[in-house]
Amino acid sequence: MASMRPRRLGKPTTLIFPTLLLLSLGAIKISSAPLPDNSTDVLWLEAFKHEIISDPSGWLSSWNSSSSHCLWPGVKCSPTHPGRVVALQLFGLNLAGQISSSIGNLTFLTTLNLSTNGFSGQLPPLDHLQKLQVLDLSMNQLHGSIPYAISNCSNLRKVDLAKNFLIGEIPPKVGLLPNLSVLRLSFNNLTGAIPPILANITSMEKLILSYNSLTGSIPHEFGKLTNMSRLSLGGNRLSGGFPQCLFNISKSLQILGLESNMLSNKLPSNIGDDLPNLQVLYLNHNMFEGQIPASLGNALGLERLELGTNYLTGEITSSLGKLSNLYYLNLQQNNLEAVDKQSWEFFNGLTNCTSLEVLSLAGNQLQGTIPNTIGNFSSSLTEIYLGGNKLSGMVRTSVGNLGSLYFLGLEYNNLTGTIEEWTGKLTKLQGLNLQVNSFIGSLPSSLGQLTQLTELNLGNNIFEGPIPPTLGNLQQLSLLNLNQNNLQANIPTQIGSLTTLVSLDLSSNKLTGKIPDTLSKCQNIQTMQMAQNLLVGTIPISFRMLQSLSMLNLSHNSLSGAIPVSLNELQLSELDLSYNHLEGEIPRNGVFENAASTYLGGNWGLCGGVASLHMPLCHAVSRRSEIEYYLIRALIPLFGFMSITMLAYITIFGKKRSQRRKLLFLSFGKKFPRVSYNDLSRATGNFSEANLIGRGSYGSVYRGKLTQSKIQVAIKVFDLSLKCADRSFVTECDVLRSIRHRSLLPILTACSTIDNNSEAFKALIYEFMPKGNLDTWLHHKISDRSPKCLSLAQRATVVVCVADALAYLHYDCERQIVHCDVKPTNILLDDDMNAYLGDFGIASLVGHSSSNTSVGLKGTIGYIAPGMYTTPSVPKYKSFKRFH
Ligand SMILES: *[C@@H]1O[C@H](CO)[C@@H](O)[C@H](O)[C@H]1NC(C)=O
Ligand SMILES: *[C@@H]1O[C@H](CO)[C@@H](O)[C@H](O)[C@H]1NC(C)=O
Ligand SMILES: *[C@@H]1O[C@H](CO)[C@@H](O)[C@H](O)[C@H]1NC(C)=O
Ligand SMILES: *[C@@H]1O[C@H](CO)[C@@H](O)[C@H](O)[C@H]1NC(C)=O
Ligand SMILES: *[C@@H]1O[C@H](CO)[C@@H](O)[C@H](O)[C@H]1NC(C)=O
Ligand SMILES: *[C@@H]1O[C@H](CO)[C@@H](O)[C@H](O)[C@H]1NC(C)=O
Ligand SMILES: *[C@@H]1O[C@H](CO)[C@@H](O)[C@H](O)[C@H]1NC(C)=O
Ligand SMILES: *[C@@H]1O[C@H](CO)[C@@H](O)[C@H](O)[C@H]1NC(C)=O
Ligand SMILES: *[C@@H]1O[C@H](CO)[C@@H](O)[C@H](O)[C@H]1NC(C)=O
Ligand SMILES: *[C@@H]1O[C@H](CO)[C@@H](O)[C@H](O)[C@H]1NC(C)=O
Repeated sequence: MASMRPRRLGKPTTLIFPTLLLLSLGAIKISSAPLPDNSTDVLWLEAFKHEIISDPSGWLSSWNSSSSHCLWPGVKCSPTHPGRVVALQLFGLNLAGQISSSIGNLTFLTTLNLSTNGFSGQLPPLDHLQKLQVLDLSMNQLHGSIPYAISNCSNLRKVDLAKNFLIGEIPPKVGLLPNLSVLRLSFNNLTGAIPPILANITSMEKLILSYNSLTGSIPHEFGKLTNMSRLSLGGNRLSGGFPQCLFNISKSLQILGLESNMLSNKLPSNIGDDLPNLQVLYLNHNMFEGQIPASLGNALGLERLELGTNYLTGEITSSLGKLSNLYYLNLQQNNLEAVDKQSWEFFNGLTNCTSLEVLSLAGNQLQGTIPNTIGNFSSSLTEIYLGGNKLSGMVRTSVGNLGSLYFLGLEYNNLTGTIEEWTGKLTKLQGLNLQVNSFIGSLPSSLGQLTQLTELNLGNNIFEGPIPPTLGNLQQLSLLNLNQNNLQANIPTQIGSLTTLVSLDLSSNKLTGKIPDTLSKCQNIQTMQMAQNLLVGTIPISFRMLQSLSMLNLSHNSLSGAIPVSLNELQLSELDLSYNHLEGEIPRNGVFENAASTYLGGNWGLCGGVASLHMPLCHAVSRRSEIEYYLIRALIPLFGFMSITMLAYITIFGKKRSQRRKLLFLSFGKKFPRVSYNDLSRATGNFSEANLIGRGSYGSVYRGKLTQSKIQVAIKVFDLSLKCADRSFVTECDVLRSIRHRSLLPILTACSTIDNNSEAFKALIYEFMPKGNLDTWLHHKISDRSPKCLSLAQRATVVVCVADALAYLHYDCERQIVHCDVKPTNILLDDDMNAYLGDFGIASLVGHSSSNTSVGLKGTIGYIAPGMYTTPSVPKYKSFKRFH
C-alpha cells in the first residue's frame, strides 16, 4: 500500500511551518472549535496538493511557503474574512489524483471549479460547504455516486458533474436545493428514475441529465419549472409519450432535447403552437409515430429541428417553410412519403427557409423526380442528404446552383441521366455520393475541378467510357469508388497522384490494359480493389511501397507473370489474386503464410507456397497443366459422342425411366416446407461428426432425418466464414428456384436464419441419396463395404442421366444455366443407381442481363469449363452518411 501513496509535491517544511503556527496559537482553540478557522485553510490546501500525483504544467509548484496561500494561483480568499479561501479554481490543467477530502474543510468556499482535469476517486465530502454556490467537477474521471449530503450545500446555484463515471441514482434530496439554477449531470452512468421532486426547484433554468441510463417517464411535475429554458434528457432510456406538461412552461423553454430515448406515440398536434419560443428541438432516435404536426411551422424561433430515426409517416408538412431561422433540419430514417405534386409541396416550401444549411430527408419513401426547386434552396445550404429513397428520373441541372454545397448524397435511389451538367459547378463539394443508382453517360472530366472532394462514390451505376485522368487533381480525395459500372480503357496513371487516397474500388468494370505502376505512389492507401476487370500484364513490383495497404483484390482479371515476392513485405490482412493467369512459385512469407486470407485459386500456373494453400509442388506443375490441357482436348469430342449415344438411349428407354420411383417430396412451385435451425440441429444430432457425409468447397453436408416429415435428407450447411459461401448459397437458390428435372438433385427447401449463437446460418436441404456420389464408386473409396464395380448398364444409366440433366439446363430451362462444376463428386446416386446432378454453388445463369458481366474462370481445376461468365455480386445496402 505504501508504494501506492501519491508522490508529494510540496516540500516537507511547507507543512511544518503552519503546523507550528497552529500549535502556537493554542490547542485549546482547536479543540473548542469543531470547524477549522482562518489559520487552517492553508493546511487543507497543502493536503489537497499532496494528493495530486500529476501536474504536467507545474502549476502547483508556486503553491509554496514563499507567498501567502491567498496569492497562490487558482486560490481566492475572502475580502471580509482574511485567510479564508472562497474560491478554488483549477481548470483544464490535466491534474490527476484524488480530490483530497480536506477540501471539505474549506468552509468559506463559494466556488469549487476543478473541471477538465484527470481527478479520479470519489467526490469530496461536501457536508460543511454550506456557502458553496458553484460546484464544477465536470470532465474528470470521478467514480462513485453523488453524495446525499450535497443537499446540505443549500446555497448551490450551479452544479456541473458532467462527463465523469458517476453511478447510482440522482439523490432526490437535490430537490431541496432552493436556489439551484443549473444542474448538469450528463455523460455519466446514472440510473433510476428522474426524481419528480426536482420540480420543486423553481429557480431551475437548465436541467441537463442527458446520456446516462435513466429510466421511467419524464415527470409531469416539470410543468412547474417556469424558469426553465433548457431541458436535455437525451440518450437515456426514458419511455412514455411526449411530455405535454412542458406546454405549461412554453414561455421559457428554448432548448428541448429528448433524443435517443424510447419515447413513443404521436407527437401532440399543438406542439408548435404551445412551445412558441423553442429554438432547438431534438426528438430523433425515438419511436414516435404518426405525422409531423403542422403546428411546428408556428414555432417561428426554431433553428434546429431533428425528428430523424422515428416511425413518422405520411406527408411532410409544408408549414416548415415558415421557419426562416431554421438552419438544420433532420427528418431522415422515417417512413415519410411524397408521391405526387401536392405531397412534394413541402420541398418547395423549404426554399423559403433562407437560413437552411443542413437538410436530411434520407431513408424515407420519397418518390418521383427531385423537384426543380432544389436549385432555389438557401444559398447557405452546405449539406443535403436524399439517399435511400425511391427517387427516379433525371437530376435537375438546377442542383448546380447550390454553390455552397459541400456534401450531396443521392445514393440508393433510382436516379438516371448524365451528371455532367451539374456536378462541375459544385466546386465546394467535399463529398459526393451517387452510388447505387442508374446514372448513365461518361464520367465528366470536370469532376477534376472539385478539388475539395474527399469522398467520391459513383459505384453501382451505368457509367461508361474511360476514367477521366483529371481525377488526379483531387488532391484531398480519400475515397474513390467507381465499382460496378461499365468503365472502359486503361486506368489513368494520374490516379497515382492521389497521395491522400485511403480506399480505391474499381471492381466490376471493363477496364483494360496494365495496372499503372504509379499507383504505388498512393502512400496512404489501405484497400485497393480492381477485381472483375479485363486487366492484363503483371502485378507491379512497386506495390511493395504501399506500406499502409491491408487489402488487395485483383481477382478475376487476366494478370500474368509471377507474384512479386516483395508483396510479402506488406502488412496485408487480405490478398485475393484468384482467377488470373499468374504462374510460378508462390512466395512463402507475410500474407502468403496464412491460407485463410490469401486467395490464389484459378491460377493454373501457380505452384509451391505453404502447405496449407494446397497448391501443386513446383517441379510437377508445368507438365501437369499440359496433361490437363490435352485431356480436356481429348475429352470434349468424346463427351460429344457420348451425348449422341445418350440421346438415342433416352428415346429408346425413355418410357421405362418414367416409371421411376415417385418423388418423395413437394416439388417446386408448391409450398416449400419450413424448417428451423432447431429442426435441422435435431435432425443431425446437433451437426455431429457421425452424421457428416461430406465436405465441399463451401461447407459441410450432413445426413439427417426430419422429425415432422420423417424423411431422410442431406443438409448442406454453408460455412459463412468462407469467402463466397454466402454468394454460393444465393446462386444455388437462384438456380434451383427456376429448375426442376428428374435428373437434378431434388431440393426440398432452404433455411436462412440465425443459429443459437445469433450467427447467420444458411443451409439447403436435399433428398438424401443412399448410394452416395459417383466418385466413390469410380475410385472405390467405399471403405466399409466390399467395393462393387459399376456394371456397363449402370454406367450407361449414369451417363444418360447426366447428359439428360445437362441438356435440360442448356436448352430447356427458362434461362440457360451453365453448371460449371460437373464432376463425379457432384453426381449422386439413388437406390436404383439413377444419377442426379447436384451442387449448383457456382453455376451461372446465362441470361439477358449480361451487360454487367466480365470474363472470369470458375470451377474445380480439372473440370473447369472454358470461358465462363460470372455475374458480379449485389452489394448490401450500406447505410449512408449520418449526421454527427
Ligand atoms: C515558489 O513560488 C514562487 C511563486 O509564488 C515561485 O517563483 C518559486 O519558484 C516557487 N519555489 C519553488 C521552490 O518552486
Ligand atoms: C485570521 O483572522 C484574524 C482576524 O479575524 C486575522 O487577524 C488573521 O490575520 C487571520 N489569519 C490569516 C492567516 O489570514
Ligand atoms: C478537517 O478538520 C478537522 C478539524 O478541524 C480535522 O480533524 C479533519 O482531519 C480535517 N479533515 C481533513 C480531511 O483534513
Ligand atoms: C446536513 O445538514 C443537516 C441539517 O441541516 C445536519 O443535521 C447534518 O448533520 C448535515 N450533514 C452533515 C453530514 O453535515
Ligand atoms: C469553471 O471554470 C471554467 C474556466 O474558467 C469556466 O469556463 C466554467 O464555466 C466554470 N464552471 C462554472 C460552473 O461556472
Ligand atoms: C437564495 O437566494 C436568495 C437571493 O438570491 C437569497 O436571499 C436566499 O437566502 C438564498 N437561499 C438560500 C437557502 O441560501
Ligand atoms: C453503466 O452501468 C452499466 C450497469 O449499471 C454497465 O453495464 C455499463 O458498462 C456502464 N457504462 C459505462 C460507460 O460505464
Ligand atoms: C415540493 O413542492 C410541493 C408543492 O409544490 C410540496 O407539497 C412538497 O412538500 C415539496 N416537497 C418537498 C420535499 O419539499
Ligand atoms: C414562401 O414565401 C413566398 C413569398 O414570401 C410565399 O408566397 C409562399 O407562400 C411561401 N411558401 C411557403 C410554403 O411558406
Ligand atoms: C428504375 O427506373 C427505371 C426507369 O428509369 C425502371 O425501369 C426500373 O424498374 C426502376 N427500378 C426500380 C428498382 O425501381
